[in-house]
Amino acid sequence: MPQPFYITTPIYYVNAKPHLGHAYTTICADVISRYHRMCTDDTFFLTGTDEHGDKIMRAAKKENTTPRAYVDKISAIFRELWPQMNISNDYFIRTTDPAHGNVVQMILQRIYDQGDIYFSEYEGKYCFGCERFYTDRELVDGKCPDHQTEPEVIKESNYFFKMGQYQQWLIDHIHQHPDMIRPERYRNEVLAFLREPLDDLCISRPKSRIKWGITLPFDKDYVTYVWFDALLNYVSALGYPDDPRFDKFWPVAQHIVAKDILKPHGIYWPIMLKAAGLPVYQHLNVHGYWNVAQSKMSKSLGNVIEPLQLKNVYGLDAFRFFLMREMVFGLDANFNEEALVQRINSDLANDLGNLFSRVVTMAHKYFKGVVPESDPSIEAELSLGMPEKVAKAIDIYTREMSGFAFHKALSAVWELINQMNKVIDVTAPWELAKAKSSQPQLQAVLYNLLEGLRVISGLIYPVMPDTAATMQKHLGCAPDQPFFKMETVKRWKCLAPGTQLPKSTTLFPRVEMPMSAAPAETAVGPSGPRIELKPEITIEDFARVDLRVATVRGVTPVPKAKRLLKLEIDLGESEPRTLVAGIAESYAPDELIGKQVIVVANLKPAKLMGVLSKGMLLAASSGSSDSSDGSAKQTVVLTVDRPMPPGSPIK
Ligand code: MSP
Repeated sequence: MPQPFYITTPIYYVNAKPHLGHAYTTICADVISRYHRMCTDDTFFLTGTDEHGDKIMRAAKKENTTPRAYVDKISAIFRELWPQMNISNDYFIRTTDPAHGNVVQMILQRIYDQGDIYFSEYEGKYCFGCERFYTDRELVDGKCPDHQTEPEVIKESNYFFKMGQYQQWLIDHIHQHPDMIRPERYRNEVLAFLREPLDDLCISRPKSRIKWGITLPFDKDYVTYVWFDALLNYVSALGYPDDPRFDKFWPVAQHIVAKDILKPHGIYWPIMLKAAGLPVYQHLNVHGYWNVAQSKMSKSLGNVIEPLQLKNVYGLDAFRFFLMREMVFGLDANFNEEALVQRINSDLANDLGNLFSRVVTMAHKYFKGVVPESDPSIEAELSLGMPEKVAKAIDIYTREMSGFAFHKALSAVWELINQMNKVIDVTAPWELAKAKSSQPQLQAVLYNLLEGLRVISGLIYPVMPDTAATMQKHLGCAPDQPFFKMETVKRWKCLAPGTQLPKSTTLFPRVEMPMSAAPAETAVGPSGPRIELKPEITIEDFARVDLRVATVRGVTPVPKAKRLLKLEIDLGESEPRTLVAGIAESYAPDELIGKQVIVVANLKPAKLMGVLSKGMLLAASSGSSDSSDGSAKQTVVLTVDRPMPPGSPIK
């Protein structure tokens, strides 16, 4: 029987474009949603935008536009970003949606009618950044702790929600539901707030000051305070009160937020729900900040990292993996590009990528790419222990995923990857392949490794859905079969012997380390990861290199050297020259005949595989020169963009 699962992100303010912090929370919600869908839970994943209030009004004014046009524009940027991050939300709510406004008004009226809202004149210190009044106790050196600005004294009449009367109820509720707010440090933080008396919450703003909001149903001269409006998105998005989705999903509601909005979610929101006669959410999952050079990433500090730039440079799955693997959910993490590159090269290219390419390549080499049969008695004799290793990894993985400990769930998968790499080293399939008598052993080893990879493809699916699909395609998993269902992931021996596998592919090419000296905020450019440059040279140094245009007249392979080609080139000299170039994997000999290439004409001759090479051809190369990771190295020869006489110098 499918269980309902409901997860929400904060609805993001539309006063700034999305950055890595927003992407992190939304990817967490996506990962957990995909995981629950794998477990066949009936899942509803909500995100959206928070569009009312003074902050937004001022941002629109700054852009010389109306709030309506402004919120439409920025909300669309969020909405259009998420599919590019493979975010699988079921709904995108905007607080300017009329249906949401109706729910806010209905709940306000209900709370007002039961006497929980009163009207009063108030003079207080107001922070425009936070859009709320501060008590002296909350200020740090007289300033707002978030914005470091002195609040303005404002005197106005407003409506107040009697929050204080629910304080003891909330304390009791948190004690009765120990995992309501998690991790525990944030539960403790909320309980610490609740040790001080709770002030009533000012829930209105006069229209004489702010017009951009939801009108109070009981006073048309006021709009609703933005937090009272925003928090209700979590119920209005489910079609409250009439839609059956509300009855199904609300009892299992879970929110994900960062610690910046712990107080509204840990205190205002449960009290609002209680006053409205609705059950409290099940869990509030709170994570820490992504910092850059120890400061919280934020627009005002000008240190934001744009998720799309990282995706374009490093690939989406690598980016998603990094965020999930690097941050301990609940604690702060420091973003730096070196750590990202290191994770890609070690965890993805080296560990997972290498294991995958080793195993699939061996399946092709030894079994023509056909999944072999595996005899259980041979498996026992070899003591491969793969089902046990897999079961242990799945056990830890499921436990950690349910508790949002994504880094630990992934680490359990990587433990399995390491164990499988060891199985290869210990069983040495290349030795087994030497004798016909060890064919059954070779089959058993290869089958078990392919099966292990299939399990891994399922386990990484929530974090890296595209890579998981590529792996499954190359493991011969039919796309119409439930290979992404947890039940199938767990079942050992799903791959059908006799299935023909497509050729192997590189899952993650290695990437270059960016220059560590560069400041973090400029660490990613639109053109890709920067390269490590060689030490500076003078123009005189460069002038010693004699670069020339040459025309290729003849090309032959070099025997026993699969990367080398022997070229006869015309440099305008009395006779053609011979040179050897390592481009055989990128060019067929015929492709090069007649091409004009650039060569270093004064390079000291050298013998390569018995052929004397007089000069060197210039080529651009992508991917790593280290072939051990199986990355696809692409080599492209340099040429001139119009015909030139052979021997023309390059200056
Ligand atoms: N609109 C309110 C939320 C209302 S929910 C009913 C809001 N919006 S926000 O645009 O400021 O988003 C805050 C959230 O964005 C954080 O709680 C977190 O989910 C995410 N993050 C913003 N900056 C972040 C970091 N530097 N690090 C981690 N998460 C970050 O508050």
